[in-house]
Amino acid sequence: MERAGGRQLNSESQRVEINGKLFRPFISRDRIATEIARLGDEITRDYNQKNPLFVVVLKGSLIFAADLLRAVRTPCTLECMRAQSYGAAMTSQRTPEVEAMEFDCSGRDIIILEDIVDTGRTISAITRRLQACSPNSVRAAALLDKPGARDPHNAYRPDYVGFEVENDFVVGYGLDFDEQGRQLADIYILET
Ligand code: IMP
Repeated sequence: MERAGGRQLNSESQRVEINGKLFRPFISRDRIATEIARLGDEITRDYNQKNPLFVVVLKGSLIFAADLLRAVRTPCTLECMRAQSYGAAMTSQRTPEVEAMEFDCSGRDIIILEDIVDTGRTISAITRRLQACSPNSVRAAALLDKPGARDPHNAYRPDYVGFEVENDFVVGYGLDFDEQGRQLADIYILET
């Protein structure tokens, strides 16, 4: 066993242990970088000279946003909103609390940056909140999409998706388990 960032790593399988749960490698940093370059190209093409407003959903989307923004080659601005995380539950329990907006987005072309869309409750709540300030448009880019986890009454589809994944719990690249694992450069999946 070796240690990395306070977590135990099994050197044979590169599994990581977080708060007693084992995770194995799932999506490498190289694959993430390739998809982010593609998303950056698409957004650059779609929003050329529209000065889009990127709204980063904290905290999980921080690392995704940092990389995606550097792949976008058109003028843009940036704001952040905060939504609650799962904590140690590994599942969404209820309608997420979204903090009040402290910026004006009227007339803007907004792109929400979300780490992962699961039940769809968080992105739906944030979209509703943003639509209240009369933007020109609201779309979303999600690094990961779990369409199989969507609430039955919620047909939300992100406009830009890096990876579509099964209904499994993942950590790394900003995504946490009980606030741990965000610093991992690759994405790991819970071992069943
Ligand atoms: P939703 O509201 O159920 O769509 O959940 C969205 C939020 O839950 C994401 O922004 C994440 O913070 C968290 N989340 C959902 N799935 C995962 C996961 O597999 N790992 C870590 N966090 C997750």
